[in-house]
Amino acid sequence: MKMSLLKEVPVDAFPQDFAWGAATAAYQIEGCWDTDGKGPSIWDTFCHAKGRVFEDQTGDVACNSYQLWEEDLKCILQLGLTHYRLSLSWSRLLPDGTTNYINPKGVTYYNKVINDLIANAVMPMVTLNHFDLPQALENRGGWKSPEIADVFDSYARFCFKTFGDRVKLWITVNEPYVCAKHGYEDGLFAPGLREPGTSVYLVGHNMLRAHARAWHSYNAHFRHLQGGKVSIALNSDWAEPLDPSSPEDVAATQRYMDFILGWFACPVFCTGDYPETMRTRIEARNLELGFSEGPRLPKFSEDEPNPLGTADFFALNYYTSRKVKDTSSHPSELSFKGDQGAEGVMDPSWPICGLSWLAVVPERLRKLLNYIKETYNNPDIYITENGFSQIGPVELEDAERCQFYQDTLQEVSEAIRDDGVSVKGYFAWTLMDNFEWAEGFRARFGLFHVDFSTAELKRTVYRSGTEYAAVISRHRTHIKLEKT
Ligand code: GAL
Repeated sequence: MKMSLLKEVPVDAFPQDFAWGAATAAYQIEGCWDTDGKGPSIWDTFCHAKGRVFEDQTGDVACNSYQLWEEDLKCILQLGLTHYRLSLSWSRLLPDGTTNYINPKGVTYYNKVINDLIANAVMPMVTLNHFDLPQALENRGGWKSPEIADVFDSYARFCFKTFGDRVKLWITVNEPYVCAKHGYEDGLFAPGLREPGTSVYLVGHNMLRAHARAWHSYNAHFRHLQGGKVSIALNSDWAEPLDPSSPEDVAATQRYMDFILGWFACPVFCTGDYPETMRTRIEARNLELGFSEGPRLPKFSEDEPNPLGTADFFALNYYTSRKVKDTSSHPSELSFKGDQGAEGVMDPSWPICGLSWLAVVPERLRKLLNYIKETYNNPDIYITENGFSQIGPVELEDAERCQFYQDTLQEVSEAIRDDGVSVKGYFAWTLMDNFEWAEGFRARFGLFHVDFSTAELKRTVYRSGTEYAAVISRHRTHIKLEKT
């Protein structure tokens, strides 16, 4: 018996009903991109165009979870998860994105997944859109078009009606920041547009409008029947000033946070509008650059539901941290970065795991949790993603990842017990190695390894998976003892 690396996680700090989960997303695992009536999504188009993704890899097959769901279920049960976060492929359910035509095979697939989870006492958390917008909607303007809020609302209502008798935790949109910034500003993600300083804000705005519409629909028509909760998953770095004694760096750090987390959290949890820092900076830059084609950061209309109050919990995706320096006086073209006027750098002492942006700083998670508690009125928080990647030779004995989970869960336990942060759940990213967007399959975040070199796509547990399972099991035993 090997020594457990996660043995020090103080399981007694976690509440009895704590959600122990792992997360995935449809495009990253399902494959079968055009099987059984599925319509294409923007990620199908993006990957099929050459030169976008590492070695031109695609999610055409991925982990083939559409056909191998039962293998996934075995992994979920082996870990002893209480919760599993998955996303629905919008274009598998509604091939052209609208409810004009519903694909029955898509409905059957997700019904099976959800029913199997429930039959095994695993609660699903379901994301309606994790980056993979139906291509048919992109052809009509996608997230840049104002009508998307209406179309998304119809899709959301369809999902609430079809699956909401069993699904009690919903995420409308995953990481609007990443989707808008990588998809429309930098062009690194689908749909691959590079329209710096403009579309990014429009897309973010329409995602918030879509989210707010869906939340209000749930609230008015489903909540009293189904009793579930709806939120939006927001990613954020933790940021601190590069030079804490520099007032410029301190102000830049706040801007850095406001342009990532505050951009979406402030409208939903605080004021119903974007952070003041965003409005002032963007307006000042418009003047500076002589930009006069209307406001770049849109205003919320009084004629439709405001985003304020449209989240029943705070869904946080946390991966990394940055030290921030002020760049507000640097000359720059029209761009999001220029507006932000802040640059995030890594502390040389932070280890990097796999991907170059992924500095491993688990202890900053506790700071971020406290920041959310203070800034957003002490909400219930689910950590809906957090993980550690491996690149290069496969190491099933992933001691570093074990250490990462040990350190992270230690921080979460302290946030709960010592700081009184209301953390309700933790979802490791991710259940199994999968298609890591523009990085293809080279970055592996799984608790299970997937052998992509063979047609069987065999899942094998990493040591971190076994150890995560042991933490969950210890917590379960602790609860039983407490009850007797
Ligand atoms: C998130 C994303 C996930 C996953 C993760 C690791 O931004 O929601 O789908 O890829 O990053 O990079």
